[in-house]
Amino acid sequence: MLTLGDIIQATIGTETKGLPGSERPIRDVVIDSRQAGPDCLFVGLKGASVDGSDFADDAIAKGAVAVIVSRAPAGAAQVWTRDAAAASITPPIALVVPDTLWALQELAAYWRRRMTVRVVGVTGSVGKTVTKELTASVLSRRYVTLRNEGNLNNEIGLPLTLLKVTPKTEYAVLEMGMYALGEIARLAEIALPSVGVVTNVEPVHLERLGTIERIAQAKSELVQALPADGVAVLNGDDPRVRAMAALTKARVFTYGLTPDCDLYATDIESQGLEGIRFRLHYRGEAIHARAALLGTHSVHTALAAAAVALNEGLSWQEIMAGLMDVSAQLRLIATPAIRGALILDDTYNASPKSTIAALNLLAELKGRRIAVLGDMLELGALEDEGHRKVARRAIEVVSRLITVGKRGRIIGEEALACGMSPENVVIVDTNQDAIRILSEWIQEGDIILVKGSRGMHMEDIVKALRAS
Ligand SMILES: Nc1ncnc2c1ncn2[C@@H]1O[C@H](COP(=O)(O)OP(=O)(O)OP(=O)(O)O)[C@@H](O)[C@H]1O
Ligand SMILES: [Mg+2]
Repeated sequence: MLTLGDIIQATIGTETKGLPGSERPIRDVVIDSRQAGPDCLFVGLKGASVDGSDFADDAIAKGAVAVIVSRAPAGAAQVWTRDAAAASITPPIALVVPDTLWALQELAAYWRRRMTVRVVGVTGSVGKTVTKELTASVLSRRYVTLRNEGNLNNEIGLPLTLLKVTPKTEYAVLEMGMYALGEIARLAEIALPSVGVVTNVEPVHLERLGTIERIAQAKSELVQALPADGVAVLNGDDPRVRAMAALTKARVFTYGLTPDCDLYATDIESQGLEGIRFRLHYRGEAIHARAALLGTHSVHTALAAAAVALNEGLSWQEIMAGLMDVSAQLRLIATPAIRGALILDDTYNASPKSTIAALNLLAELKGRRIAVLGDMLELGALEDEGHRKVARRAIEVVSRLITVGKRGRIIGEEALACGMSPENVVIVDTNQDAIRILSEWIQEGDIILVKGSRGMHMEDIVKALRAS
């Protein structure tokens, strides 16, 4: 277990071996002082409006034995700064550092290097979280496996996850998100992945990176960081991902829908809300497979998870069992709604690729199909075309459409322009408006897809119409 001595060594750089008090164990690492408790480490991170270091005394009052801060709190019994020395360690201690986030990352990197855990990094524009979840589910059929919770995939979430690794942890499957070039390289520097999965490169977050080539460059940082005895697991159906093979020292393993991939799938059938069926082809063998994930697009998620597991030596039996793990379905969740209707809740995020994938699933389901589609954010120059493309798929699938937000309006107007009748298209500004209209419309047997970017908070619509 992480100790006080480890924290001082990793963040201050002072050797603490044999120092009285250095073996004191740390039971948890928190960045929110409200979650502090006995024997925890509190890290005061600078936020947009608040500085976490201001809450160090609260954390100490709750039992924190160490705080990493930018200035010493009154409640610390001992203050450590760079190159400080002392005859013993007297908690609660304050470690005063110039950059508390950097210190948290350095602590995670230090701890990771003391663990024998094998790290699998997962990145890509779309499908990181579901791929991370399914890969962890499959690997956990044989190994003690850790994963980052939910979407904790950034410069804070990943280090916090690594600090949960114990000597018993055999695998850590870590989603790696980014806002800018260099961020995935930094996450890889901390986590030292041996396996790297790249799901796809899409014009998601185009607004931030400007061009799709720069998005590809940012995603390729994971495979560039892999060691020569590592494995780069690449989606062979995506030419920008396939091209990353030239950028890695590691062995390359491709997955996809064509025989020129090391692992490929054919005969993909959606079983609606029961998941998907497909045939896997590997080294001349063909195996029937099923996955609990919804929608034919999920075959790529299943392929990525199976590809990692195959390279890590799991059996087909373990892989098949893992692919049927429903807990990996963190997106596109079927939720019973009022009056015997069903909601497809896909409100966590949205891009043209994932929205069209969700509409494709909706198209397979029986019942009156309604779509509630909100803004897709950060598409940059592709914003207009992205929303119109979604509209053109929606009119092929649904009998009624509600759009939410000013970019959602583009979808509604395009649907009308493509001939959808005005009584079946409603363009609104807020989730509240959508809830009001849906409450009037919903009938038994309806299937309602609700989807939009995180910033739209369309989960409020699901909450309001969920069957109680
Ligand atoms: N291969 C795919 N093709 C199309 N849509 C996909 C694919 N994989 C997942 N999706 C859909 O994309 C959406 C996002 O999935 P997920 O949250 O796993 O992505 P992410 O990359 O983790 O996103 P974020 O950048 O927000 O962390 C979900 O609606 C999911 O159903
Ligand atoms: Mg994610």
